[in-house]
Amino acid sequence: MPSVPVLRIVPDSEWAQAAAQELASRHGQAMATRGRCLLALSGGSTPTTLYDRLTRPDWRDRLAWDRTHFLFGDERCVPADHPDSNFGMAQRHLFAPLHIPSTHVSRMKGEREPAAAADEYEADVRALTQCAPPGAPELDIILLGLGEDGHIASLFPGTAALHEQRRLVTVGHAPSGVRLRLTMTLAVINRASVVLFLVAGAAKAAIVRAVLEPRSEAERGLPAAMVAPMSGQVTWVLDRAAAAQLSRDPVEPGKE
Ligand code: 6PG
Repeated sequence: MPSVPVLRIVPDSEWAQAAAQELASRHGQAMATRGRCLLALSGGSTPTTLYDRLTRPDWRDRLAWDRTHFLFGDERCVPADHPDSNFGMAQRHLFAPLHIPSTHVSRMKGEREPAAAADEYEADVRALTQCAPPGAPELDIILLGLGEDGHIASLFPGTAALHEQRRLVTVGHAPSGVRLRLTMTLAVINRASVVLFLVAGAAKAAIVRAVLEPRSEAERGLPAAMVAPMSGQVTWVLDRAAAAQLSRDPVEPGKE
Protein backbone atom coordinates (compact mmCIF):
# COMPACT_ATOMS: atom_id res chain seq x y z
CA MET A 1 0.00 0.00 0.00
CA PRO A 2 1.60 3.33 -1.01
CA SER A 3 2.34 5.58 1.96
CA VAL A 4 0.69 8.98 2.34
CA PRO A 5 2.85 11.73 0.83
CA VAL A 6 4.66 13.94 3.34
CA LEU A 7 4.38 17.68 2.69
CA ARG A 8 7.02 20.10 3.89
CA ILE A 9 5.74 23.63 3.31
CA VAL A 10 8.11 26.42 4.21
CA PRO A 11 8.39 30.18 3.61
CA ASP A 12 9.66 30.92 0.13
CA SER A 13 12.98 32.18 1.48
CA GLU A 14 13.62 28.89 3.30
CA TRP A 15 12.83 26.49 0.46
CA ALA A 16 16.45 25.82 -0.50
CA GLN A 17 17.45 25.02 3.07
CA ALA A 18 14.43 22.74 3.56
CA ALA A 19 15.11 20.90 0.30
CA ALA A 20 18.76 20.42 1.24
CA GLN A 21 17.81 19.19 4.71
CA GLU A 22 15.29 16.72 3.28
CA LEU A 23 17.81 15.37 0.77
CA ALA A 24 20.52 15.12 3.43
CA SER A 25 18.19 13.22 5.74
CA ARG A 26 17.15 10.70 3.07
CA HIS A 27 20.72 10.42 1.81
CA GLY A 28 21.85 9.63 5.35
CA GLN A 29 19.23 6.89 5.60
CA ALA A 30 20.54 5.32 2.38
CA MET A 31 24.08 5.45 3.78
CA ALA A 32 22.98 3.80 7.02
CA THR A 33 21.06 1.01 5.31
CA ARG A 34 23.10 0.40 2.16
CA GLY A 35 26.39 2.24 2.51
CA ARG A 36 25.77 4.09 -0.75
CA CYS A 37 23.13 6.23 -2.44
CA LEU A 38 21.77 5.82 -5.96
CA LEU A 39 20.41 9.32 -6.59
CA ALA A 40 18.44 10.21 -9.73
CA LEU A 41 18.49 13.93 -10.48
CA SER A 42 15.64 15.97 -11.90
CA GLY A 43 15.96 18.37 -14.78
CA GLY A 44 14.40 21.78 -15.24
CA SER A 45 15.34 24.93 -13.33
CA THR A 46 14.03 24.37 -9.80
CA PRO A 47 16.78 21.94 -8.77
CA THR A 48 19.49 24.55 -9.44
CA THR A 49 18.37 26.34 -6.25
CA LEU A 50 18.92 23.13 -4.30
CA TYR A 51 22.21 22.32 -6.03
CA ASP A 52 23.57 25.81 -5.36
CA ARG A 53 22.72 25.35 -1.68
CA LEU A 54 24.43 21.94 -1.51
CA THR A 55 27.65 23.35 -2.95
CA ARG A 56 27.89 26.24 -0.47
CA PRO A 57 30.81 26.01 2.00
CA ASP A 58 28.41 25.31 4.92
CA TRP A 59 26.79 22.40 3.04
CA ARG A 60 29.30 20.94 0.59
CA ASP A 61 30.82 18.41 3.03
CA ARG A 62 27.61 17.28 4.75
CA LEU A 63 26.72 14.49 2.32
CA ALA A 64 28.96 11.51 1.46
CA TRP A 65 29.35 12.38 -2.22
CA ASP A 66 32.10 9.77 -2.58
CA ARG A 67 29.49 7.06 -1.92
CA THR A 68 26.85 8.55 -4.17
CA HIS A 69 26.15 7.51 -7.74
CA PHE A 70 24.22 10.04 -9.80
CA LEU A 71 21.63 9.07 -12.40
CA PHE A 72 19.13 11.16 -14.36
CA GLY A 73 15.35 10.89 -14.30
CA ASP A 74 15.24 12.37 -17.77
CA GLU A 75 17.21 14.23 -20.41
CA ARG A 76 16.46 16.32 -23.43
CA CYS A 77 17.68 14.84 -26.75
CA VAL A 78 20.46 17.39 -27.15
CA PRO A 79 24.24 17.22 -26.69
CA ALA A 80 25.65 17.57 -23.16
CA ASP A 81 26.95 21.07 -23.93
CA HIS A 82 23.55 22.29 -25.17
CA PRO A 83 21.98 24.98 -22.89
CA ASP A 84 18.89 22.77 -22.43
CA SER A 85 20.85 19.70 -21.30
CA ASN A 86 19.90 18.47 -17.82
CA PHE A 87 23.35 16.92 -17.54
CA GLY A 88 24.89 20.25 -18.47
CA MET A 89 22.89 21.98 -15.73
CA ALA A 90 23.95 19.39 -13.14
CA GLN A 91 27.54 19.61 -14.32
CA ARG A 92 27.61 23.38 -13.82
CA HIS A 93 25.71 23.53 -10.54
CA LEU A 94 26.65 20.30 -8.81
CA PHE A 95 29.29 18.01 -10.32
CA ALA A 96 31.93 20.63 -11.13
CA PRO A 97 31.68 22.55 -7.82
CA LEU A 98 31.79 19.28 -5.84
CA HIS A 99 34.48 17.74 -8.07
CA ILE A 100 32.30 14.66 -8.72
CA PRO A 101 34.28 12.23 -10.89
CA SER A 102 32.62 11.15 -14.13
CA THR A 103 32.78 7.54 -12.89
CA HIS A 104 30.11 8.49 -10.32
CA VAL A 105 27.70 9.74 -12.95
CA SER A 106 25.51 7.78 -15.38
CA ARG A 107 24.64 10.23 -18.15
CA MET A 108 21.75 9.80 -20.55
CA LYS A 109 23.27 10.35 -24.02
CA GLY A 110 20.95 12.96 -25.44
CA GLU A 111 23.16 13.30 -28.48
CA ARG A 112 22.47 9.72 -29.62
CA GLU A 113 19.49 8.44 -31.60
CA PRO A 114 16.74 8.44 -28.93
CA ALA A 115 15.61 4.81 -29.01
CA ALA A 116 19.21 3.58 -28.97
CA ALA A 117 20.08 5.98 -26.16
CA ALA A 118 17.11 4.74 -24.12
CA ASP A 119 18.20 1.12 -24.64
CA GLU A 120 21.75 2.02 -23.63
CA TYR A 121 20.67 3.81 -20.48
CA GLU A 122 18.36 0.99 -19.48
CA ALA A 123 21.29 -1.41 -19.84
CA ASP A 124 23.49 0.95 -17.80
CA VAL A 125 20.90 1.12 -14.99
CA ARG A 126 20.43 -2.65 -14.96
CA ALA A 127 24.19 -3.21 -14.84
CA LEU A 128 24.67 -0.62 -12.09
CA THR A 129 21.90 -2.11 -9.94
CA GLN A 130 22.43 -5.73 -11.02
CA CYS A 131 18.72 -5.87 -11.77
CA ALA A 132 17.81 -8.20 -14.64
CA PRO A 133 14.61 -7.97 -16.65
CA PRO A 134 11.71 -8.03 -15.99
CA GLY A 135 12.41 -6.55 -12.55
CA ALA A 136 12.80 -2.85 -11.82
CA PRO A 137 15.64 -1.62 -9.57
CA GLU A 138 15.04 0.17 -6.29
CA LEU A 139 16.86 3.49 -6.51
CA ASP A 140 17.45 5.16 -3.16
CA ILE A 141 16.27 8.67 -4.04
CA ILE A 142 14.58 10.08 -7.13
CA LEU A 143 14.26 13.87 -7.37
CA LEU A 144 11.28 15.10 -9.38
CA GLY A 145 10.12 18.51 -10.46
CA LEU A 146 6.54 19.24 -11.47
CA GLY A 147 5.48 20.72 -14.78
CA GLU A 148 2.49 23.07 -14.92
CA ASP A 149 0.68 20.36 -16.90
CA GLY A 150 1.41 17.81 -14.18
CA HIS A 151 4.29 16.08 -15.96
CA ILE A 152 7.17 14.55 -14.10
CA ALA A 153 10.57 13.71 -15.59
CA SER A 154 9.61 13.56 -19.29
CA LEU A 155 6.37 11.66 -18.71
CA PHE A 156 3.80 14.01 -20.19
CA PRO A 157 -0.01 13.68 -20.05
CA GLY A 158 -1.47 11.55 -22.84
CA THR A 159 1.83 10.07 -24.00
CA ALA A 160 2.77 6.41 -24.39
CA ALA A 161 5.83 6.88 -22.17
CA LEU A 162 3.58 7.64 -19.20
CA HIS A 163 1.95 4.20 -19.45
CA GLU A 164 5.13 2.22 -20.13
CA GLN A 165 5.38 -0.34 -17.33
CA ARG A 166 7.90 -2.85 -18.75
CA ARG A 167 10.87 -0.68 -19.77
CA LEU A 168 12.92 1.25 -17.26
CA VAL A 169 13.86 3.98 -19.74
CA THR A 170 12.00 5.10 -22.84
CA VAL A 171 11.63 7.94 -25.32
CA GLY A 172 9.43 10.77 -24.12
CA HIS A 173 7.62 13.40 -26.18
CA ALA A 174 7.21 16.93 -24.84
CA PRO A 175 4.53 19.26 -26.26
CA SER A 176 6.94 22.18 -26.40
CA GLY A 177 10.58 23.09 -26.11
CA VAL A 178 12.91 20.18 -26.83
CA ARG A 179 10.26 17.72 -27.95
CA LEU A 180 12.28 14.49 -27.94
CA ARG A 181 13.33 13.28 -24.51
CA LEU A 182 14.82 10.30 -22.66
CA THR A 183 12.99 9.42 -19.48
CA MET A 184 12.80 6.93 -16.67
CA THR A 185 9.36 5.33 -16.52
CA LEU A 186 6.94 4.85 -13.64
CA ALA A 187 8.26 1.28 -13.46
CA VAL A 188 11.43 2.72 -11.91
CA ILE A 189 9.94 5.75 -10.19
CA ASN A 190 7.37 3.67 -8.34
CA ARG A 191 10.08 1.33 -7.06
CA ALA A 192 12.15 4.09 -5.46
CA SER A 193 12.79 4.12 -1.72
CA VAL A 194 12.26 7.87 -1.69
CA VAL A 195 10.70 10.23 -4.23
CA LEU A 196 11.42 13.85 -3.43
CA PHE A 197 9.27 16.42 -5.25
CA LEU A 198 10.97 19.82 -5.50
CA VAL A 199 8.35 22.46 -6.29
CA ALA A 200 8.49 26.22 -5.76
CA GLY A 201 6.79 29.34 -7.01
CA ALA A 202 3.25 30.69 -7.49
CA ALA A 203 3.09 29.37 -11.06
CA LYS A 204 2.89 25.83 -9.66
CA ALA A 205 0.11 26.49 -7.11
CA ALA A 206 -2.74 25.35 -9.38
CA ILE A 207 -1.11 22.13 -10.49
CA VAL A 208 0.04 21.33 -6.94
CA ARG A 209 -3.60 21.55 -5.81
CA ALA A 210 -4.75 19.43 -8.77
CA VAL A 211 -2.22 16.69 -8.00
CA LEU A 212 -2.51 16.66 -4.20
CA GLU A 213 -6.20 17.51 -3.90
CA PRO A 214 -7.73 16.21 -7.17
CA ARG A 215 -11.33 17.10 -7.93
CA SER A 216 -11.81 15.02 -11.10
CA GLU A 217 -10.77 11.78 -12.77
CA ALA A 218 -8.60 13.84 -15.13
CA GLU A 219 -6.70 15.32 -12.19
CA ARG A 220 -6.38 11.90 -10.55
CA GLY A 221 -4.78 10.72 -13.82
CA LEU A 222 -2.10 13.40 -14.00
CA PRO A 223 1.43 11.98 -14.30
CA ALA A 224 2.50 13.38 -10.91
CA ALA A 225 -0.60 11.80 -9.34
CA MET A 226 0.56 8.41 -10.65
CA VAL A 227 3.71 8.55 -8.51
CA ALA A 228 2.92 6.09 -5.70
CA PRO A 229 5.86 3.87 -4.76
CA MET A 230 4.57 0.60 -3.33
CA SER A 231 7.04 0.60 -0.47
CA GLY A 232 8.70 3.99 -0.81
CA GLN A 233 8.05 7.40 0.71
CA VAL A 234 6.97 10.44 -1.31
CA THR A 235 7.90 13.80 0.15
CA TRP A 236 7.00 17.18 -1.33
CA VAL A 237 9.17 20.18 -0.48
CA LEU A 238 6.98 23.18 -1.29
CA ASP A 239 7.32 26.86 -0.69
CA ARG A 240 4.25 28.76 0.48
CA ALA A 241 3.65 30.19 -2.99
CA ALA A 242 3.43 26.74 -4.56
CA ALA A 243 1.22 25.48 -1.71
CA ALA A 244 -1.09 28.52 -1.73
CA GLN A 245 -4.12 26.70 -3.22
CA LEU A 246 -4.00 23.69 -0.93
CA SER A 247 -6.92 23.51 1.47
CA ARG A 248 -4.59 22.45 4.24
CA ASP A 249 -1.48 24.56 4.53
CA PRO A 250 0.47 22.93 7.30
CA VAL A 251 3.35 25.35 7.30
CA GLU A 252 5.97 23.95 9.57
CA PRO A 253 5.50 25.03 13.21
CA GLY A 254 7.34 28.21 13.98
CA LYS A 255 7.54 29.08 10.31
CA GLU A 256 4.27 31.04 10.15
C1 6PG B 1 12.86 18.51 -17.38
C2 6PG B 1 12.38 18.00 -16.05
C3 6PG B 1 10.94 18.34 -15.90
C4 6PG B 1 10.90 19.45 -14.86
C5 6PG B 1 9.56 20.14 -14.83
C6 6PG B 1 9.62 21.36 -13.89
O1 6PG B 1 13.73 17.87 -17.99
O2 6PG B 1 12.39 19.60 -17.76
O3 6PG B 1 12.71 16.79 -15.73
O4 6PG B 1 10.13 17.27 -15.47
O5 6PG B 1 11.20 18.90 -13.58
O6 6PG B 1 9.26 20.56 -16.15
O7 6PG B 1 10.59 22.24 -14.40
P1 6PG B 1 11.00 23.58 -13.61
O8 6PG B 1 11.70 23.14 -12.36
O9 6PG B 1 11.91 24.29 -14.57
O10 6PG B 1 9.71 24.31 -13.32
